[in-house]
Amino acid sequence: MKNIEKKRVFIETLGCAMNHKDSANILSQLEEREGYSKTETIEDADLIIINTCSVREKPVHKLFSELGQFNRIKKAGAKIGVAGCTASHLGREIIKKAPYVDFVLGARNVSKITDVIHRKGAVEIDINYDDSLYSFGDGGVADFKKMINISIGCDKKCTFCIVPHTRGTEISIPSEMILDEVKRGVDEGAKEFLLLGQNVNNYGRRFSTEHKKMDFTQLLREVTEINGVERVRFTSPHPLHMDNEFIEEFASNPKIAKSIHMPLQSGSTEILKAMKRGYSKEWFLDRVERVRSAVPDVAISTDIIVGFPGESEDNFQDTMEVLEIARFEQMFSFKYSPRPMTEASNFKDSIPDEVAGERLKRLQARHLKILEEIAQSKVGKIYDVFFDIEDNGCLIGRNSAGLLIKSRGDRSLLGKVGRVKIIESGRTSAKGEVIS
Ligand code: SAH
Ligand code: F3S
Repeated sequence: MKNIEKKRVFIETLGCAMNHKDSANILSQLEEREGYSKTETIEDADLIIINTCSVREKPVHKLFSELGQFNRIKKAGAKIGVAGCTASHLGREIIKKAPYVDFVLGARNVSKITDVIHRKGAVEIDINYDDSLYSFGDGGVADFKKMINISIGCDKKCTFCIVPHTRGTEISIPSEMILDEVKRGVDEGAKEFLLLGQNVNNYGRRFSTEHKKMDFTQLLREVTEINGVERVRFTSPHPLHMDNEFIEEFASNPKIAKSIHMPLQSGSTEILKAMKRGYSKEWFLDRVERVRSAVPDVAISTDIIVGFPGESEDNFQDTMEVLEIARFEQMFSFKYSPRPMTEASNFKDSIPDEVAGERLKRLQARHLKILEEIAQSKVGKIYDVFFDIEDNGCLIGRNSAGLLIKSRGDRSLLGKVGRVKIIESGRTSAKGEVIS
């Protein structure tokens, strides 16, 4: 057989977990159908793809400066494509602004990758396109883990958020396809599964084909019942859909990892209303209370936006108060960034940048202190740690709540769960010793 030199693809991924999964899907299609292999070096690539995020304005600016830079250093004849949410929202404008871009592939059109790479100037950004029945290629198992899409799009209308405009209406992927994909992952060596959707716990709201009724709690149950599945995580859930039945399943099912994302956005009921989040400060605190009392060792992460239009100092104090009570183990916090096509971009009473910046600083400073206190409380505790990486004779893994724990230990524990006592704990990771 002739030894054909493999084509190489470089892919850069910005943004959320969904984008990382989309990149993995793009890669598997290019490898299986087009004979590409992955490279980490732009200069070696025959195909360069930037998988973009448009949730805030900054990454959009970054895209055009990066495109220019990649175009200068790429090898002759290499193609450049823009994928993801900014591709969906700017579409053909990207090629107008950067004519050397070969194709634009929207966040909902990932399965068309093997088509667009052959059409110079292709723009595939239909947000009504249904990718939910598309089964992707093999692979995607790394360090015993696999990501699985369970829905696409988002039906919520949070007034600050561009995602419903870039990823389109919400469609759930039929449960049989998801369960088959999990089984395939087990066969490929995966033990931990991350279920993905923009509004993941609204699963079952709408299927594009006839499908038996199935909600997120039921799906979780069915996934964890598959032989060989050790741990299941999911992101991103919406606090509104965290009903009691879900919290009970979350607490009692040992295979569901005990970490949960509860994106607060704001602690002020008034601002939450303006954001159209559908819950109040009290309701959010009640959910946190329920989760913490059902799972004392749970890790709760959150997203917070400060400086939303009309946010008064009192409104901001509500957010500080929720932080004080909820004591999030992880917090992603942002200054509000007006986005095109969103309702909030037309709101009056915008908050001066210095005010928003100062609030963000206060919020983050207080959270750092809380993290230090949480870290101290971990010393002496014993956790089950799933070791998935070995580095220099050190085993590294996470406990069920997602805390990164390093420990000396026998390499035979790799891919298994060991009991570890914490001897030292920092804000983001801990050191421990294996006790059994
Ligand atoms: N459900 C999605 C949310 C996407 S956006 C998910 O799965 O992650 C991620 C986070 O970015 C949001 O929770 C919000 O806190 C933040 N965000 C979204 N739009 C924003 C905006 N216009 N300005 C600032 N932050 C924003
Ligand atoms: Fe965005 Fe709200 Fe959906 S934050 S992704 S519109 S749940």
